[in-house]
Amino acid sequence: INGLADDIELWKKSTLNQIVQRGELIVGLEPGYMPFEMKDKQGNIIGFDVDMANEMAKSMGVKLTLVPTAWDGIIAGLLAGKYDIIMSGMTVTQERNLKINFAKPYISVGQTLLVAKKHAGKTWRDLDTPEHTIVTKLGVTGEIATRRMFKRANIRTFETEADAAQELLNGNADAFVYDKPYNAIFMAEKGKDRLIHLDEDLTFEPLGWAVRKGDPDFLNWLDNFLTQMKGDGRYDRIYDRWFND
Ligand code: ARG
Repeated sequence: INGLADDIELWKKSTLNQIVQRGELIVGLEPGYMPFEMKDKQGNIIGFDVDMANEMAKSMGVKLTLVPTAWDGIIAGLLAGKYDIIMSGMTVTQERNLKINFAKPYISVGQTLLVAKKHAGKTWRDLDTPEHTIVTKLGVTGEIATRRMFKRANIRTFETEADAAQELLNGNADAFVYDKPYNAIFMAEKGKDRLIHLDEDLTFEPLGWAVRKGDPDFLNWLDNFLTQMKGDGRYDRIYDRWFND
């Protein structure tokens, strides 16, 4: 008897219900992570996550609003209710998962290394000496991997992946550690004749959409939405648009 009342309370509190009531899905993301979310020349936010978010809003029958957010604080913003969901290529780490929930992963990536061309033939282990500088982005899984792997090299972190990668390009660092899809695109766009992509995965990282805890309704919808997208061809179409190498 209590059960039904409890169910109604849960449903009213569910983010999914709030989205439908307001007619708007609000997504938090940090543009700058190719090909998941980045700005085009006109400043529009585009990418794999953005296309998925569009399909998501369409399937909910609501409009989509993107909220660009610095990576540092993106989880705090979710917990504070600034957006309904984080769709930002976020790795499902066990540490993050203590604070937030993730829908079933929608893709997996690994950390790889971009290294200066002069280091041709070397492995990451060869670069782990005090003479070498490794750059990565603050607060991402790349930083975690870098600190775990490189015990002797200098480590420097940057607010954005673009600044960290640029530091390598400028010759001020020996290697850049980050998610493979980003490194592959950076290599193709700017690395020719200057960098080498050591593209063997150094980590296993499922990426997932993050929501607040205690909201099984929303998670259930998201998991079934992903299953549908994967089965009916929409996922593959969007995937091919952004990962066509
Ligand atoms: N997958 C990495 C992580 O979760 C990097 C994601 C960065 N995403 C972004 N939109 N800048 O730590």
